[in-house]
Amino acid sequence: MRSGVFISAFAAVILFAFPSTGQSINEVVAQRQQDMKAMAAAAKTISTMFKSPDTYSPTAFRDAAEAIKRYSGTRLVADFATVTAVKGSEANELIAAERERFAQLSNDLERYAEGVADAASDSPGSMPDEMRMRVGEQVSGGPLAKRPRNESNRAAMSAEHTFHMMLETCTSCHARYRLRD
Ligand code: HEC
Repeated sequence: MRSGVFISAFAAVILFAFPSTGQSINEVVAQRQQDMKAMAAAAKTISTMFKSPDTYSPTAFRDAAEAIKRYSGTRLVADFATVTAVKGSEANELIAAERERFAQLSNDLERYAEGVADAASDSPGSMPDEMRMRVGEQVSGGPLAKRPRNESNRAAMSAEHTFHMMLETCTSCHARYRLRD
């Protein structure tokens, strides 16, 4: 009897230890690395438009920001929910120990990506000045600045400033939860 209880408890642990999506551990890692690469490509697209404002396209800009939004938030959390530090992955074991903090960064990324998408201007031609960093924003958005917690704050930020805040979220998460080479 006793061993029966023990065996079913053990079986439950095994079930929890493996992804519920039916993917193997290698597939989970490959999938999330793919997601990260897609976010990096989208961020590059946006960054190129800030560097060369005459290449600005409202649709391409918004699509790129929305792609990052899709890969962040709950999807990013789910990417690391069942598999954290394993061979072939740069994820570290702190993720499993700090679920809330990891989720907070994933959600911050989603909010900033949404903010970047919302700040895209529909005007044709070159990127309009209102999307560029404004005087004073650099001061409030340094690496030590508090992240804005309310919507009205965010809406007041220029697209470029929001984009920089978004990239800082990538960097913060990597600094804490990704192994260095
Ligand atoms: C909440 C945490 C978190 C956020 C936010 C985050 N990343 Fe990552 N990223 C990781 C972790 C952890 C890994 C290591 C994944 C692995 O190897 O399993 C990673 C890996 C990567 C990789 C390497 C993928 C590969 O091929 O191995 C790239 C590129 C990347 N991230 C880009 C980004 C960009 C760009 C952003 C922001 C738009 C971002 N990440 C936001 C946690 C995060």
